[in-house]
Amino acid sequence: MKGIILAAGAGTRLYPASQPISKILLPVYDKPMLYYPLSTLMLAGIKDVLIITNEADNDNFEKLLGDGSQIGMNIQYKIQYIQRGIADALLLGEEFIDGDDVALILGDNIFHGFGFSTLMKQALENNDGATVFGYRVKDPERFGVVEFDKDKKVLSLEEKPLSPRSNYAVTGLYFYDKNVCEYAKMLKPSARGELEITDLNKIYLQKNKLKVEILGRGFAWLDTGTQDAMLEASYFVSAIEKNKGEQIACIEEIALNKGFIDADKLRQNLSRFKGKSAYYDYVFSIIESALLAITSGRN
Ligand code: DAU
Repeated sequence: MKGIILAAGAGTRLYPASQPISKILLPVYDKPMLYYPLSTLMLAGIKDVLIITNEADNDNFEKLLGDGSQIGMNIQYKIQYIQRGIADALLLGEEFIDGDDVALILGDNIFHGFGFSTLMKQALENNDGATVFGYRVKDPERFGVVEFDKDKKVLSLEEKPLSPRSNYAVTGLYFYDKNVCEYAKMLKPSARGELEITDLNKIYLQKNKLKVEILGRGFAWLDTGTQDAMLEASYFVSAIEKNKGEQIACIEEIALNKGFIDADKLRQNLSRFKGKSAYYDYVFSIIESALLAITSGRN
């Protein structure tokens, strides 16, 4: 399974903050926004990730994460020169996907909640069709909207409908089988000139191969499109981290827990960051406890 993060938006709604640098690299509390979608893919067990950026920001993304080997991942980059729509990510990513299944996540979508890894595991195991996630919202007309019956069978999908048939938004995380690139090639630009992700999902729906998983009350799904949404997301992350003394979306911790890399190697790779910030203090405390657990296991 491959992963793609679409992070090519201009972020104009956050100007001037996002004028010199991509919105996806701006902080949500104590880490770049990018860490949240990246950690979602990592929690699904995905090690091979393509980050799609705009031309101006490509180098900045690479500066942050490099080739990913420092955390045991393989991270590649691709430029989207023209904003042709979310489904364009599957065309740009065709070579990278290379006939595999793929999870696509929007760079400004933050997910947090108990049992999320299990839900994603189920989506991952569905290698015949697509899985999307529905989330109850008060303003469904701002999103892709999914209507489904009591057995969670999808009845309809609409992009930003004037009269939504349900209150369930389709979140920006999509799991697709190996046919997705072929289907993406069949898409035509919509009235607003974009290759719509909803049109791609409709192809799966027509083939009776679209599943929806509902993210219940215990889940938080945050779309960080505006300055208010960014501020609220920062408060949300800060409240949880301070309460629990644990980080959300700490990519080094997830890499360690998932066995992408061992503690010794991680400590070596990150040595230049030791003592530099509260974030890295946390990372090193995780590494030290992992090393301690190994040593006491040996004795
Ligand atoms: O957030 C979930 C929603 O995302 C879904 O419910 C909708 O079905 C889906 O169309 C999308 O709606 P948005 O209105 O949020 O899409 P937006 O155009 O704002 O793009 C979402 C992110 O993807 C944003 O960070 C910019 C980036 N993007 C978008 C397009 C069209 C790209 O990087 N390249 C693109 O070509």
